[in-house]
Amino acid sequence: MDVLIRPTAEVARAAADIITHYIQQGATLGLATGSTPTPTYRELIRRHHEEGLSFAACRAFLLDEYYGLPRDHEQSYYATIRRELTSHIDIDDALVDSPDGTNSDYVAAAADYEERIAQAGGIDVQLLGVGTNGHVAFNEPGSSLASRTRLTSLHPQTVTDNARFFDSADDVPRHVLTQGLGTILEAGHLVLLATGSTKADAVRRLVEGPVTASCPASILQLHPRATVIVDEEAAAQLDNAEYYRFLDESAPEL
Ligand code: GLP
Repeated sequence: MDVLIRPTAEVARAAADIITHYIQQGATLGLATGSTPTPTYRELIRRHHEEGLSFAACRAFLLDEYYGLPRDHEQSYYATIRRELTSHIDIDDALVDSPDGTNSDYVAAAADYEERIAQAGGIDVQLLGVGTNGHVAFNEPGSSLASRTRLTSLHPQTVTDNARFFDSADDVPRHVLTQGLGTILEAGHLVLLATGSTKADAVRRLVEGPVTASCPASILQLHPRATVIVDEEAAAQLDNAEYYRFLDESAPEL
């Protein structure tokens, strides 16, 4: 696992540099929602407009979706990613996919999503955030490390954390369809971003704690190609921060 500790304003650029490399190869992108990746999306949009970065050969899959929200609900993750990224670039809308949160047969909806990812040849690079309780996508603490796309329930902490996007906590859907931890582990490269002091405990646990279902993001330790990009505040509880900086500074030029 590579741990890059950067000033807050440079986290997005470091992430965009990695993702750009994949975009230039027409890759299948794994997109995350939440507020953390927003500056990275802004930087990618800027590169599209100012530097000719084209997404025309790319396709994309979202990590997760609220169950019960139609795609055109403004807080659906499908609508969110359109607003934050895909409506501003030249990706083919028909190739931006998400779990179907309106299918009453949620077992079929989950299986279909796995199938569509597999048919696309898998995800080349997966952008990830982390919840304050260590969740990735919507895999809450206790999720099987081998889990696949499925319907699951939100942790009360996540409902509280995400209430800011809705009129009130009561409006936050309690159920979600999410890629599983086993699904996420199959992506070619995992890039997890975390900024701010509220993420410091989760970052310590995912980078330096044991691999455990109690901290779902700790699955990054099992992946052969994982990059964690954090700002100083999110890195504040890392015991080995100086070592990660040393490795970062002495990395060979590619
Ligand atoms: C949400 C999403 C995650 C996201 C996390 C953190 O609930 N399902 O994919 O990484 O919570 O969100 P934020 O970046 O807003 O802190």
